Amino acid sequence: MLPSHYFTHAPKGYSHAESATLTTAGLTVWRALVVDGQLKPGATVLVLGTGGVSIFGLQMAKAMGASVIATSSSDAKLEKLRALGADHTINYRANPEWGKAVRALTDGRGVDHVIEVGGPGTLPQSITACRIGGHIALIGVITGRAGPVPTAALMARQQRLQGLIVGSRQEQREMIRALETTGIKPVIDSTFELAQLADAFRHEASGTHFGKICVSV
Ligand SMILES: NC(=O)c1ccc[n+]([C@@H]2O[C@H](COP(=O)([O-])OP(=O)(O)OC[C@H]3O[C@@H](n4cnc5c(N)ncnc54)[C@H](OP(=O)(O)O)[C@@H]3O)[C@@H](O)[C@H]2O)c1
Repeated sequence: MLPSHYFTHAPKGYSHAESATLTTAGLTVWRALVVDGQLKPGATVLVLGTGGVSIFGLQMAKAMGASVIATSSSDAKLEKLRALGADHTINYRANPEWGKAVRALTDGRGVDHVIEVGGPGTLPQSITACRIGGHIALIGVITGRAGPVPTAALMARQQRLQGLIVGSRQEQREMIRALETTGIKPVIDSTFELAQLADAFRHEASGTHFGKICVSV
């Protein structure tokens, strides 16, 4: 038994699998955009790759009236991102200088917010992509746990680099209210039975997924 204040209600109409996507991926990017980022309609948001965090970021930012630039290593996934509402897409594998490409798409200004899930391998490009005084939410370290950061560029561009780990119960309640109002549903790539857990991890490692991978218990 756990005390009731460990929980919140799930959004109305959500399945258990859909609800399970919220407490980590959903809540973290909600906090990045709404709580830490104070996102305003008309702002520009950059999301990296097509994992659960970034796709939630795209959906939430669009629902709040932001413009979204999204990246992926796959042109087929870029098409899916556009179908979900991305205003601009960039293949980061074909265009290793994607930070400059993002800047060009914003008339040289740079984006207001970066949902940074890559870590050391992507941060230098994210700093290039972000505007002077912009906000980089450091959520993930997919490319490695440590690495050089272009500190002079971060200083000169006067950016706020904010690390974060999920969010509070109150923030989760506010996110759920917003999900119910906007009708946003998570993008679930696939669901595996618990006995196929190893296959679920293999699928994640293959990098072919788009959105969340669920395990049914
Ligand atoms: N701080 C927190 O509280 C918190 C909460 C949730 C997650 N996380 C972390 O955030 C990260 C993302 O989580 P997730 O669940 O969204 O992961 P995921 O579902 O595994 O997605 C990872 C995606 O990142 C993209 N990617 C891989 N290498 C990349 C690179 N070099 N540059 C740009 N994109 C790259 C790939 O997209 P394409 O296939 O489209 O190229 C891949 O699909 C993980 O490190 C996770 O541990 C942290």
